[in-house]
Amino acid sequence: MELKKKLFPFFSTVGILIVVLGLYAFKSDSATTERYVAQTRWENLKVLPQNISKDSLDYLMKNYALSLGVKCTHCHVPSKTDPTKLDFASDEKIEKEIARGMVKMTNDLNALYFQPHFPEPKPKQVHVVNCVMCHRGAVNPEKYLSQMGEMYKTYDPNRDNRKEMFLEQQKKQ
Ligand code: HEC
Ligand code: HEC
Repeated sequence: MELKKKLFPFFSTVGILIVVLGLYAFKSDSATTERYVAQTRWENLKVLPQNISKDSLDYLMKNYALSLGVKCTHCHVPSKTDPTKLDFASDEKIEKEIARGMVKMTNDLNALYFQPHFPEPKPKQVHVVNCVMCHRGAVNPEKYLSQMGEMYKTYDPNRDNRKEMFLEQQKKQ
């Protein structure tokens, strides 16, 4: 009898917790589906899915910036009409175009080399390789590693002249 009395508050607390958690799981589930409602207002997506939600896009962009240790302005130019804002759809910066190639490379690495090794049922998308895995907060991981010692003497700062070529091209236009 004594034991039952002592255990009653315990069981009722557990009971309430289960009910609350059950309700919470239900609530967060519907919130997730709400967040992924398709959007059609992106102007210039060439590698990301056209119907990506704002939340997902925000998450990815913050992730790119953090991984490379840069701000949004590393890839996006200020708006011509309102310089206090960024023109996210503009392709004026070569860094944005390089980033597109990087997104494609990362997706391919995951799809070709990691996804096949996942057990059935296979997830639609796999994110084993990501930007930070190579970049670790630096724009140029190769350069960063080359400074680490004699082992990494492969980096030639004069080799990558894509930015110069891009600027030359723009001058000609
Ligand atoms: C490392 C480069 C990089 C950084 C840093 C970056 N972005 Fe982007 N952003 C891109 C690329 C690449 C695209 C285009 C993706 C595509 O073509 O599918 C893009 C597209 C976008 C778009 C969609 C524009 C449209 O309508 O087409 C928005 C909005 C955006 N970025 C916001 C941001 C914000 C906010 C930040 C800072 C938190 C940021 N980006 C940082 C590379 C970057
Ligand atoms: C497999 C390793 C690897 C992964 C993964 C990777 N990068 Fe890179 N990235 C590099 C290397 C190496 C360079 C320097 C390239 C060079 O010097 O030719 C670079 C260069 C860049 C540059 C040009 C930097 C500059 O401004 O000079 C951008 C932008 C970039 N990466 C964005 C990204 C984004 C965004 C992702 C994730 C979607 C990503 N990278 C994933 C290895 C990687």
